[in-house]
Amino acid sequence: MAYFSIVSLRIELYIYKNITIVKYICLTKGLTGVVYMKILGINTSPREASNAKIALEKALDTAKSEGAEVELINSNKLNISACQGDNYCKAHEGKCAIDDDMTQIYKAIEEADGIIFAIPIYFFDVNAQMKLIIDRLYSYFQFPFAETYGTKKVSFIITQGTPDPEAFKSTLEVQFGAFKFLGFELQDLVVLTDNNIPGAINDKEDQLSQAVEVGKNIL
Ligand SMILES: Cc1cc2nc3c(=O)[nH]c(=O)nc-3n(C[C@H](O)[C@H](O)[C@H](O)COP(=O)(O)O)c2cc1C
Repeated sequence: MAYFSIVSLRIELYIYKNITIVKYICLTKGLTGVVYMKILGINTSPREASNAKIALEKALDTAKSEGAEVELINSNKLNISACQGDNYCKAHEGKCAIDDDMTQIYKAIEEADGIIFAIPIYFFDVNAQMKLIIDRLYSYFQFPFAETYGTKKVSFIITQGTPDPEAFKSTLEVQFGAFKFLGFELQDLVVLTDNNIPGAINDKEDQLSQAVEVGKNIL
């Protein structure tokens, strides 16, 4: 017998020509798998054959095969400015004063049920492309993000050259603490080592398997 358990229920209201349209989005998980869930992947590596991106695609393919709708954004291709610290968002219900491609990322995050970031280490830390996004999430600080959009799982796939997976762990935990602070639920932090050569991960079954697990756990 197939059955479902309701993971969460989202109700969206639209007003069109004085008619109120109510849209129920029911996220269910059960024996027959995920019926509706949207998983967002954000890759911050600028490289074409990026190892982080390859791992992220593996995770997203896994989520998709379980029934989730998936979306991949390559943030390096977007025009994202640095946070100006003007606190405009504090007086405007979390809306940022800067009108750039970050609006695409805000919208995608708000619509997603789970988010997976794929990030290369640059100088002992997340790369600058990722830090731009983290700082711009300041818009959600004080604005009740989780109450408005629900608690979303977030996972991180890290690629680095160094063979030691623990080398940057403490720095990474500080960066990702920002997501917890904003109301996200931290799921996986996977560090994929020895990946200086673009596409090197394609020969590493163990690392690709870790990416598959990320794709399963985000659901
Ligand atoms: C500017 C720059 C700085 C880097 N700094 C580090 C570092 O501090 N530690 C490290 O292990 N790897 C470092 N690397 C190597 C990258 O983290 C590694 O090649 C990673 O796998 C790249 O991911 P990608 O293939 O997804 O682009 C650096 C690479 C660049 C370009």
